[in-house]
Amino acid sequence: MIARSQIIGCGSYLPARLVTNAQLAETVDTTDEWIVERSGIRQRHIAAEGERTSDLATMAATRALAAAGIAGADVDLIVLATATPDNTFPATAVKVQHRIGMKHGAAFDVQAVCSGFIYALSIADNFIKAGQVQTALVIGAETFSRILDWKDRTTCVLFGDGAGAVVLRAGRGKGGSQDHGILSTHLHSDGAHHDLLYVDGGPSSGQTVGHLRMEGREVFRHAVVNLAAVVREALAANDLAAADIDWVVPHQANRRIIEGTARKLGFPMERMVMSVDRHANTSAASIPLALTEAVQDGRIKPGQLVLLEAMGGGFTWGSALVRM
Ligand code: ACO
Repeated sequence: MIARSQIIGCGSYLPARLVTNAQLAETVDTTDEWIVERSGIRQRHIAAEGERTSDLATMAATRALAAAGIAGADVDLIVLATATPDNTFPATAVKVQHRIGMKHGAAFDVQAVCSGFIYALSIADNFIKAGQVQTALVIGAETFSRILDWKDRTTCVLFGDGAGAVVLRAGRGKGGSQDHGILSTHLHSDGAHHDLLYVDGGPSSGQTVGHLRMEGREVFRHAVVNLAAVVREALAANDLAAADIDWVVPHQANRRIIEGTARKLGFPMERMVMSVDRHANTSAASIPLALTEAVQDGRIKPGQLVLLEAMGGGFTWGSALVRM
């Protein structure tokens, strides 16, 4: 029997420093009203000086392992999604591997920007389904504050730092557990729209560190179309209707994108898990941050159907359907 990846624990971490819209408006030509109306964002967490993506990732991973009741040494694979690694190399994942006391297996990073967590989850799920690993740690961690142009009010107000993680374990159908776990993942990319969302630097570009550049209006338009398509694809693949889904955990880019997608698909907003107001857009970290919050506060319950969806730079987009 093919193994199914079951989520046995999740955890998250946000840097201590909180920056409200009003605080941002002291240094950027913006207002709380503009940011809330256009994005739904009210505050974001920003990493302290010297606090790196690997630090955020290790905290989230440690909490996910504690929730799962296993030790770092029990993990066979780490897939870490980030667009803001500590260094060009080695992968941020191997730093986490060392810090959680994992001595065997493999750890690597995945780069799909805001869709990174869905990509990482899909990769880990396939390793488990192939029988190559039993236990995997999937992490989304970002310090986007380091790649923002703090003089560009059209982008810097939208993002924040954070990390989230889930532990996956192979389940083989004992006691009906075959029904639980990741039921499907769907991944897409289209490199034709590079100039709408990118960082104008990187190791091979002549400028080692760059800043995020975005045509917000165009990204918005593509996001709603691609997200609606990938959600419909997931529902059709599992022979389900929108009404069968208990919770949608969308990538937290912008309240209006989430509302637009929900409207297009017929999901009531009460079933959309929202954290963008408090976390802003944390890219690959946003889904595991929102998921962890909804699991910990008891909204998401064992046995419920949860649909994860994201779209980001690349463009990349994807979904994962999970029975908790
Ligand atoms: N404060 C005040 N005014 C601002 C700000 C700001 N921070 N930023 C822009 N403005 C001004 C503009 O200069 C413009 O002024 P003008 O009319 O005098 O020229 C006006 O506000 C309107 O600007 P638009 O860019 O047209 O505003 P829009 O309604 O499109 O909202 C936004 C901008 C929020 C970026 C929106 O396009 C959006 O959410 N796009 C999606 C981007 C996104 O979420 N990307 C995340 C990465 S991809 C992903 O995760 C899906």
